[in-house]
Amino acid sequence: MMDQDKTILCIGAGYVGGPTMAMIAAKCPEYKVTVADINADRIARWNSDRLPIYEPGLEQLVAQSRGRNLFFTTDVEKGIRESKIIFVSVNTPTKTFGSGAGKAADLQFWEKSARLIMECATEDKIVVEKSTLPVRAAEAIHRILQSNTKGLNFSVLSNPEFLAEGTAVADLEHPDRVLIGSMTTPDGHDSMERLVEIYAHWVPREKILTTNVWSSEMSKLVSNAMLAQRISSINSISALCEKTEADIQEVSHAIGMDSRIGGKFLRAGVGFGGSCFKKDILNLVYLCECYNLPEVAAYWEQVVRMNEYQERRFAERIVKNMFNTVSNKRIALFGFAFKADTGDTRESPAIHISNLLIGEHASLAIYDPKAMENARADLAGTEGKIEYFEDPYEAVRGAHAIALITDWKEFTAYDYGKIFTLMEKPAFIFDGRNILDHKRLYSIGFNVFPLGKPALTHF
Ligand code: UDX
Ligand code: UDX
Repeated sequence: MMDQDKTILCIGAGYVGGPTMAMIAAKCPEYKVTVADINADRIARWNSDRLPIYEPGLEQLVAQSRGRNLFFTTDVEKGIRESKIIFVSVNTPTKTFGSGAGKAADLQFWEKSARLIMECATEDKIVVEKSTLPVRAAEAIHRILQSNTKGLNFSVLSNPEFLAEGTAVADLEHPDRVLIGSMTTPDGHDSMERLVEIYAHWVPREKILTTNVWSSEMSKLVSNAMLAQRISSINSISALCEKTEADIQEVSHAIGMDSRIGGKFLRAGVGFGGSCFKKDILNLVYLCECYNLPEVAAYWEQVVRMNEYQERRFAERIVKNMFNTVSNKRIALFGFAFKADTGDTRESPAIHISNLLIGEHASLAIYDPKAMENARADLAGTEGKIEYFEDPYEAVRGAHAIALITDWKEFTAYDYGKIFTLMEKPAFIFDGRNILDHKRLYSIGFNVFPLGKPALTHF
């Protein structure tokens, strides 16, 4: 018999909810963990051999517990009734309408989930914010929940997720820290202890930080904003490097050796993508505007603007160097995912770059090891010539240029001698991630345009 207290529900079986619950189920076998989602297709895939998301190590992790103490269901209401601790990990996209459109978080799914919890609950619950929410959202949610007329008590915790896609399983298993924010009431404290106890099954206690709810909510937004800011900073310098013949990789390396700066997240590229960075920064910007801090808002908004500039700059560099026209020229895109080791394309620079190139009437040949399904969906309805290939060597046949967008390792292992023979001449490579061997490509005959460093051309 399962201990009724050791029951966990997660509403939202997405990139965050699915892997996080799989890890908790694997590490806490005495807990019954249920993941519920309104999307029946998604749940069917979580229950199949073809999981809805690709993450290294995830299949094994799910297989370890599924059917034992890990369950996927569409019955959210039953899940609520039967679980003591309820994580909410539904999506919180940027609002597209009304006040704050384009910046503020759209909390309708969150509020809907909170109201459903309130309606279905027949006993006290602990509700955990897993989705990234604006600062002070927990307070609003708590108010909604406490308005129940059944005399039930709800405790709201903030427990933001810091996992990165592609390394989700490793990040969950060995997190830098786990952050838990709670209300400063005895009840809030008790709930926090319950959650600490769960994570303490595998995370060293000193890495489990407890704060007040607002610090926790704020820390999540600021972590993402600071990470994105580093990328925008180095990308801004990559533009300057291309003008001055300095080499961005040498610069990154040199500054990163200063232990105060540190070497991580200094890779210049085509721009950051992913579901979080842009959304969370815009959230922060909106908060600053709401609290009448326009200078602070403008400061952070510039991180997003710089990212858009970098994407645009990459596409414009392609056009400019291909004799100012890509009209009817085939350009092979290597990669569509927003980063390597994921099939996710949300906010991928590939989308914006593709649209810019299509606007120039280029014909696109797209190849990605994991993101083809999403790429097709992202570009569905786009006017212009776009073809999708399962084989990179087919994508480059007759192409004038290769634009490398995603840092998939397999791109470094291709036979570029063969690729060169398949392409139109002069053949161009624009390495948006600086992962290829540029000197070798040049010696094969390519005109090579690395990012943030001098081009190697035969003319
Ligand atoms: C989500 C949030 O977007 C992010 O802000 C937060 O940090 C973590 O949770 P992610 O897991 O990547 O991130 O989102 P997504 O993959 O879109 O998954 C959300 C899931 O919630 C979807 O499967 C959706 O069907 C489900 N959902 C949404 C519900 O089950 N009920 C709803 O009312 C709304
Ligand atoms: C990010 C945060 O890292 C994670 O903590 C949070 O929970 C969710 O948002 P994620 O978006 O999955 O995770 O990936 P991340 O590895 O942070 O990369 C984001 C983007 O930045 C990618 O497009 C990546 O290619 C780009 N990037 C990253 C760079 O361009 N240069 C770098 O040096 C690092």
